[in-house]
Amino acid sequence: MAFPESFIKELVERSDIAEVVSAYVRLNKRSGSNLFGLCPFHSEKTPSFSVSPDKQIYHCFGCGKGGSVVNFIMEIENLSYPDAVRFLARRAGIPVPEEERDVNFSRRERMLSLNRDAARFFYGQLKTPGGAAARQYIEKRGISPAMVTRFGLGCAPDSWDSLVSAMLKKGYTRAELLDAGLARASKKGGNGIYDTFRNRLMFPVIDIRGSVIGFSGRILDDGEPKYLNSPETLVFSKSHNLFAMNLAKKSKKGYIILSEGNIDVVSLHQAGFDCAVASLGTSLTPEQARLISRYTGELVLAYDGDQAGQRASQRAITLLQRLDIRVRVLRMTGAKDPDEFLKKFGPDAFENLLRRSEGHVEYRLADLAAKNDLKTDTGKVAFLKDAAGLIAGLPSAVEREVYARKTAEMAKVSGDAVSAEAERIRKRLVSQARKKRESESTRPARLLQPAARELRFENSRSAAAEKGVLRLLYYEPALFTEKRRFAQDDFSSPLLAKLFAELYGGVARGEQPSLAILSERFSQDEISVLTEIISAPVELSNSEQALGDYIEIIREEKLAMQHKRNSDAAELMKFAQSKLQRKGGYRG
Ligand code: GTP
Ligand code: MN
Repeated sequence: MAFPESFIKELVERSDIAEVVSAYVRLNKRSGSNLFGLCPFHSEKTPSFSVSPDKQIYHCFGCGKGGSVVNFIMEIENLSYPDAVRFLARRAGIPVPEEERDVNFSRRERMLSLNRDAARFFYGQLKTPGGAAARQYIEKRGISPAMVTRFGLGCAPDSWDSLVSAMLKKGYTRAELLDAGLARASKKGGNGIYDTFRNRLMFPVIDIRGSVIGFSGRILDDGEPKYLNSPETLVFSKSHNLFAMNLAKKSKKGYIILSEGNIDVVSLHQAGFDCAVASLGTSLTPEQARLISRYTGELVLAYDGDQAGQRASQRAITLLQRLDIRVRVLRMTGAKDPDEFLKKFGPDAFENLLRRSEGHVEYRLADLAAKNDLKTDTGKVAFLKDAAGLIAGLPSAVEREVYARKTAEMAKVSGDAVSAEAERIRKRLVSQARKKRESESTRPARLLQPAARELRFENSRSAAAEKGVLRLLYYEPALFTEKRRFAQDDFSSPLLAKLFAELYGGVARGEQPSLAILSERFSQDEISVLTEIISAPVELSNSEQALGDYIEIIREEKLAMQHKRNSDAAELMKFAQSKLQRKGGYRG
């Protein structure tokens, strides 16, 4: 046991769940005493993620995830239990009691400190003779000294071991350098290692907490590969981070500009657009979209004008819209990317571009128009069909009307025809959606099951009663005095039995049940099951009676199951015998 229970209790008391969650999820829309928001753990448009300040738990009715404030931090920051506890302790300003340091925690801390030292090393190299080529490159790209400092740009010298030897001197080991992706093992074998990044302009990737988690290195000429990124490590995940998000999150602009290249981001910041970020050489991921949605409800896409950039835009729009982020798309003409545009036309022209940037519907309509030849009848028909489908999916009637008219103008047909077609498609979509919901709600048994397949219940009637027992144990431990003690052996679900045993053990020692403490010994999925149980409304008025009823059901079902197993066994026996007899028959 790593942490004293009293410490966890104090930590939970001083980490109000609504406050902690609010840093990640926009919570509002009250229903009863609960707060609601869009679930950060799955994509959704209507809020089904609830936080109960009374019970100090969160629970998502959509994906089933739930737990205490500790579970929330584990899940959203992707941390182990001890790391999440330390994270919250730091936040609440409570000292962590002396304890054996978790192995992964110290590995992470070491890697972050190595990365920070490496970033300092690269930065320092810019001022040495070895940094001359990079200095020239920075000047050639028009990057100001202020931006070099703000982004902590640096350079990896043209050498095989300058970083390696500097870091070994600082006390880091070869293994640590390899783990961090800063060095590679030499092919010759032995314990030789060499610098991963050589002769490159270095961009540290800094997460939203300000830690250097990895690097992007750009080549100084037209060679290949143009960019080299840190590999995935204990602290670096490309899909979960965005370049410059640490800076953009402080911007007062109220929106975020998403571009493709690191250089674009630096140029944008230099021109005053301090809200620019870039994904790390991949197309936008759902995790990155969620990261963005924590800070803003509005995003401007400034991808390259080429085919690849346009396709990436389409994908990004779909992802971002799912999170209710308003998306506008920049159409750059006369330049391939924001960096080139700024150099050619300046910040004011870019500001103009921003003001004129199209909402995603205009953008998609223009895209459809470009795909079809509107001068021919077949092209017109194809365009109208696609456009009507697009318009049909818009939630607001006003918007549908506006874009139907716009589409009609583009194809030079009557506005009413487009509207009518869009409404026809919409009716079909709406009725399909309704049918789907109905068929889902007529399968309540499925909905009672936990989301994770391996946690499904064998006997749902008994499981419901077992959940009832657990709920009572959680809220009314006093009911469970010796005279009422009964073995959890009667439970049909091993998971519920395990949860019962664990909770009951604490209660017997006179402790108040606590999700945060249980979380150390149970998986996230298991805690979600328990959270769902305790977040159901409690009927405590006749709990004595309720407990009796639950126990009766559990015993009844146990007998029924035994009976069924016995008769199954008898069936099997009969079947086997008949086979034997038949075999005997053949022989005889
Ligand atoms: P410039 O061409 O100098 O303006 O560079 P840029 O920073 O604008 O990059 P570019 O638009 O060419 O590429 C966009 C992003 O894709 C870069 O920031 C990288 O993250 C990524 N990328 C580009 N080339 C490579 C490559 O060769 N390998 C990897 N892994 N990523 C790359
Ligand atoms: Mn570029």
